[in-house]
Amino acid sequence: MKFEEIIKKRKSVRKFKSKTPSWKDILYAIDLANQGPFAGNQNHLHYIIVEDHNTIKALAQLCEQHWVADAKIIIVACSDDTHLENLYGERGRIYSRQQAGAAIHTLTLALTERRIDSCWVGSYSDELVREKLKIPQHIQVEAIIPIGFEAGKSKKPAKKSLERCLSWETWTQTRRPTMFEEGHEDYPPFRG
Ligand SMILES: Cc1cc2nc3c(=O)[nH]c(=O)nc-3n(C[C@H](O)[C@H](O)[C@H](O)COP(=O)(O)O)c2cc1C
Repeated sequence: MKFEEIIKKRKSVRKFKSKTPSWKDILYAIDLANQGPFAGNQNHLHYIIVEDHNTIKALAQLCEQHWVADAKIIIVACSDDTHLENLYGERGRIYSRQQAGAAIHTLTLALTERRIDSCWVGSYSDELVREKLKIPQHIQVEAIIPIGFEAGKSKKPAKKSLERCLSWETWTQTRRPTMFEEGHEDYPPFRG
């Protein structure tokens, strides 16, 4: 699949078939997520792969999202902020959240490339998830990612158009001064 196709194909899937994704594909996706970027090249992430059905059911309860229980595998992305905080102080905690987000997105894209569906779940009790998975107190639970193969066919929601998220030179200038000069009529590809 081409890069653009992977990006556009990825969507949050919340209804899974009973087929289980291959653990080799999961390792492939985590390995790609490990390619960065990371501040100071400090990869602070750790992934717990949950296959046990009872643990998956318990995680669904802790998320208060019953559909999570239908996933055959869940990836739990965790961060250890200690080293980044030692290096960069308070800013290190910000870097930690940012690079976790970047890595999780890479992970979901890599899964998409392998035709595995997923959903980034961020709503759960950190404390109870830590307790259930024996995660140390100082570790952040960044995301719970149920994965599988979509049952049915959901639509990916519409996305923000280019003109609603751009400005030029300053926050307040929303048009590139020369954007509509001769020869530029077709660009950028504004959507309705
Ligand atoms: C930080 C974060 C937290 C999210 N938490 C949840 C969640 O708890 N439950 C859920 O069903 N989807 C969750 N999502 C998925 C979003 O709902 C989804 O990305 C959004 O609706 C856009 O749909 P798409 O992913 O198909 O493009 C989360 C996404 C992000 C980035």
